[in-house]
Amino acid sequence: MPVSNASSSDLRTLMHNKLPAINELLEQLVAEQSGIPDDLRTAMVYTLSAPGKRIRSMLVLWCCELVSGRENSNARIAAAAVEMVHTYSLVHDDLPAMDDDDLRRGRPTCHKAFDEATAILTGDALLTLAFELLAERIDDAAVAIALVRELAQAAGAAGMIAGQVADLKAENTEGNLESLEYIHIHKTAKMFGCAAVMGGLCGHADREQLDALARYGLKIGLGFQIADDILDVSASSEQLGKTAGKDLKAAKCTYPALLGIERSKALERQLADEAIAALESFGPGADVLRQLAFALLDREK
Ligand code: IPE
Ligand code: IPE
Ligand code: MG
Ligand code: MG
Ligand code: MG
Repeated sequence: MPVSNASSSDLRTLMHNKLPAINELLEQLVAEQSGIPDDLRTAMVYTLSAPGKRIRSMLVLWCCELVSGRENSNARIAAAAVEMVHTYSLVHDDLPAMDDDDLRRGRPTCHKAFDEATAILTGDALLTLAFELLAERIDDAAVAIALVRELAQAAGAAGMIAGQVADLKAENTEGNLESLEYIHIHKTAKMFGCAAVMGGLCGHADREQLDALARYGLKIGLGFQIADDILDVSASSEQLGKTAGKDLKAAKCTYPALLGIERSKALERQLADEAIAALESFGPGADVLRQLAFALLDREK
């Protein structure tokens, strides 16, 4: 089914149908890499094959399809690269020195299933492999450079890592809306903006389209992290596949802690509206992205 014809009830099916190909691609890309020590490969496969939602990968694929009419092989590589960087960020986020979590994607976290050193190195390996794939497997050098730049900026020291630094620093502080927005935009929203832009780049989007996709991705990414904060207090560990109630225990700065659940939900809806407004120039072809903006807030995990 072309994504442009999707009705809201189809979104779940569309996402469900996209999953196997993304999972197979991730598995295949690691399998094709030679020279990886057996123990490290085992931990990389364990981590990557766990049932993540693959939302950032889907975003890459749908944004490529939006601007060019179809998914292409560059978008598939970019989708895998984004997922690898995201997965690395989770492995490190769960480490004892960071959020100290035992459960991820319904399984013991990497450092629990293996050991801390292996988890650190598995994260390092996934991060590095993402960039190797962009350098090796994108068939257009200019696109490859643009993708590398985009991903490095979103995930790097002024992007996701800056957000993680601020998140840890804010533990046990009261925080305020400004610092909280900084944390969530950096640690999470930038990767969503990046995924949308990478999809656009793979579909040869023009500057205006790329800017619109970046705005959309940032808005849904911020909403996504607010939803993650809400789920931490409202859902169970079984439902989430990760330990519920962790944010309160670690005295994290979160939207529910600062604004309460109702105002956090209102803000989520406002962000979804703003995300949809960013897609104005795209017409019905962007319906799946419009539905995604709200679906990410209603998710169960
Ligand atoms: C978890 O991201 C980390 C956040 C930024 C909230 P996801 O909720 O997308 O995790 P997976 O990939 O589905 O496990
Ligand atoms: C994580 O935020 C953001 C990352 C960059 C990994 P959280 O710490 O809230 O994510 P979860 O709840 O552990 O998935
Ligand atoms: Mg964290
Ligand atoms: Mg965490
Ligand atoms: Mg969380």
